[in-house]
Amino acid sequence: MIGASRLNKLQPGIFSKISEVKTQVLQSGKDVIDLSVGSPDMPPPPHVKKALIEAAENDKNYGYTLTEGIPSLKQTIANWYKTYYQVNLDPDKEILSLMGSQDGLAHIFWAAVDPGDIVLVPDPGYPIYQSGALLAGGILYPMPLREENNFLPDLSEIPQDICQKAKIMILNYPSNPLAATANKDFFAGVVSFARQHDIIVCHDFAYSELSYDGFKNVSFLEVPGAKEVGVEFHSISKTYNLAGCRLGFIVGNAAVIDALRLVKSNIDYGIFRPVQLAAVEALSGSQECVRANAKAYEHRRDVLVEELAKYGWKINKPKASMFAWAKLPSFFNSSEKFAMDLLREAGVAVVPGIAFGQCGEGYIRIGLVQEGEKIREAARRMGEFVTRHKP
Ligand SMILES: Cc1ncc(COP(=O)(O)O)c(C=O)c1O
Repeated sequence: MIGASRLNKLQPGIFSKISEVKTQVLQSGKDVIDLSVGSPDMPPPPHVKKALIEAAENDKNYGYTLTEGIPSLKQTIANWYKTYYQVNLDPDKEILSLMGSQDGLAHIFWAAVDPGDIVLVPDPGYPIYQSGALLAGGILYPMPLREENNFLPDLSEIPQDICQKAKIMILNYPSNPLAATANKDFFAGVVSFARQHDIIVCHDFAYSELSYDGFKNVSFLEVPGAKEVGVEFHSISKTYNLAGCRLGFIVGNAAVIDALRLVKSNIDYGIFRPVQLAAVEALSGSQECVRANAKAYEHRRDVLVEELAKYGWKINKPKASMFAWAKLPSFFNSSEKFAMDLLREAGVAVVPGIAFGQCGEGYIRIGLVQEGEKIREAARRMGEFVTRHKP
């Protein structure tokens, strides 16, 4: 039998199931509007593509690179943080490049968790937090994120014995799948909780630059004392539509970064140099493209919310991220059944909330990953589907 026992801890992804049903629907001759994936559909900024192409033309850029990230990338990240978040970072000790933030979010557990250690994860949460922790032998303690608490964890609810055994806490704002945001007061509470219980805080800030209506997302590191207890993960995937390039970074606590560097340097080399140079161009150039990107998502969000409202389905208007987290009308009692029936009957693919954790039941995640008119059509089909199924 092939297969290590740790594989038993992993679930086959909901995405393969969605993709299977989608293929069947397409084969039956129906079209599908796919709002299930979290992959940006818009192109990268032309000046970033140009930098990538020029660097790829240079034969010298094809060797191995160091895990660290090239010095110009680390300096650019430090400048970017200073400019946009007023956070000072030492490029050598407090910044490490990643092959997408997912690389860091998967390997951080190998750096910080011993088998049997407790890992505090958001429920619902982005799946890598759970699978990464489980692969490293961690034990999950899901922190329920409830609408009545603005989808923030209530830290006072976590039992004392769990607090004592917990090694890491994962947070993610703006959140996937919830599209919820956090403010400085919440993060200040997290810092004092982490200090009290000696917990490493990992804040996944992959959607840092996607916010709407003039709202600005808060960096965990903006809060005094944050760097003593934690780190923040970033990605250029969503900000600059470069998901396939695989570049992210971790910043913050030097000891945590040192530990992750050790794991990563034993596993692999660094990122393809042309991709690092493209990231330098993206982060140091004009950020007009980022604003345009966010505006496009904002428009799609408005179309979705307005169109669903025409069918009496009122959903929360997200302030950030590239998703809407929609509460299902009360006569649906399974988010998975809803998503699969919607796909089969109406040709719209969304992700059932249960795929992100028990507390996701009763919701679906709608990705704003198609242009406005497609979103309008998808919302129309969803509205009609709901009306049809009304008891
Ligand atoms: C919350 C969150 N974190 C991290 C990632 C991983 O992004 P990447 O590895 O492309 O940087 C994603 C991707 O969808 C995400 O939604």
